[in-house]
Amino acid sequence: MMQWIKVLDNLPENDGMIQIKLYGKKISIAYNQNTYYAFASTCPHAGADLSRGWCKEGYIICPVHRYGYCLKTGKGKAGQGDYLRTYPLKIEAHGVFIQIKKPWWMIW
Ligand code: FES
Repeated sequence: MMQWIKVLDNLPENDGMIQIKLYGKKISIAYNQNTYYAFASTCPHAGADLSRGWCKEGYIICPVHRYGYCLKTGKGKAGQGDYLRTYPLKIEAHGVFIQIKKPWWMIW
């Protein structure tokens, strides 16, 4: 079951990256080109921490081997053949929300 979960009370005040933990998953929130994005913090290539990476021209760049993933779609750059998990994010007057599937162990 997909649901919107409030993850922050306020937007980050600078362009830095924030990492949160939700249902045991590490999720990064980045600000780039006037938009906020949420995506899995674990790099699909070899597991590096993408919250230590940086945004460039609409991509999150992994700090270890410099692979790039589209912040909008999660699609890896040409030739990589991989995807990063991204999460829908919405900003409302009372906070920042991420859409995520409730894990099976919380549905019971
Ligand atoms: S671990 Fe991220 S590009 Fe290799």
